[in-house]
Amino acid sequence: MLRTTGDAEPPAWTADERRKVRALVPALLKWFAAHARDLPWRRTFDPYAIWISEIMLQQTQVKTVIPYWERWMRELPDVAALAAAPQDKVLKLWEGLGYYTRARNLQKAARVVMEQHGGKFPRDFAAVLELPGIGRYTAGAICSIAYDEPAPILDGNVIRVLTRLFGIGENPREKKTNARLWQLAEALVRRAASSPSPCASSAGRGELYTQERLLSPALSSIQMEERENTCARPASFLNQSLMELGALVCAPRQPRCEECPVQKQCIARREHRIDSLPNLAPRATATARRFLAVAAERDGQWFVRQRPGGVVNAHLWEFPNVELPVEGDSVAVVVKKLIGAHRELKPLAQIRHSITRYRILLEAYQAQ
Ligand code: ADE
Repeated sequence: MLRTTGDAEPPAWTADERRKVRALVPALLKWFAAHARDLPWRRTFDPYAIWISEIMLQQTQVKTVIPYWERWMRELPDVAALAAAPQDKVLKLWEGLGYYTRARNLQKAARVVMEQHGGKFPRDFAAVLELPGIGRYTAGAICSIAYDEPAPILDGNVIRVLTRLFGIGENPREKKTNARLWQLAEALVRRAASSPSPCASSAGRGELYTQERLLSPALSSIQMEERENTCARPASFLNQSLMELGALVCAPRQPRCEECPVQKQCIARREHRIDSLPNLAPRATATARRFLAVAAERDGQWFVRQRPGGVVNAHLWEFPNVELPVEGDSVAVVVKKLIGAHRELKPLAQIRHSITRYRILLEAYQAQ
């Protein structure tokens, strides 16, 4: 584990930790080259395409994202297209992914790129970080994957991998521990980038950076010199190996430790602490909510309304709905109170949906 020397100073490294970082890097790179999933955004070095994938992948699973990403890239293939698109189109392409602020920020950022960077997605980490909706993780992911810059990444998956490998028992959301995890992530990616690599000459890199079309699978970025455990894009691969290990092997529950390329270096495994790491504070208890929505049709047309500004899901379209007390009247009684006993509503569906800390039950009815 890292020793800390006080609040202001960065933690000091022990010789053990240095050795561990050196051992982890080639094992992770080699594993990634052999096991990485062939995902569509891994066939490109286009920072725009990678940015879109990273924003979509926040809070959303890979298998859900793939068709959204493919459709988005067909409809809005570059920054200029996104900047110029009507907002309705952007939101329509996002429909179903949720957390619509992400889509609005994508368009805001595309307009900043057009106005302040001449339409070219910035390369500089600080400039990327300044774009709306881009935090330290996303800037690190874009700069490492698109440009092979040794910028660290730390998200939920990486936190799980690192707390287990290094046996970090403190809460990773707590400031000091979080800083230590970023430091470890940085040490790993820097080590990868500074390891000798026959493919990492500046000429070779320049060629990769400017390539903006989709690569064929054979040419995909998953290329590695097996014999030397070095690869063409070490910073990119190292970061993606941490994401991928967290997604495929180092799972929150029942991780596949027998398949792990770094199981020998894992303190949590050695000390039987897998189930207690990462040490996250328990989630806030969920709040139940109940809504009644009505899908009303007349002559083949459906009645929808647009939400106002300044509320959750502002300006999105929806079937008219009201929130009901969870333990309150049955829908039949509510309807009677609202629109009178003579109107009939036909039950359509009951939909359960969890989002942030809300557990929502939507009772949908059909009306003429
Ligand atoms: N999760 C976050 N970023 C990802 C990526 N680039 N590939 C797969 N899963 C991810």
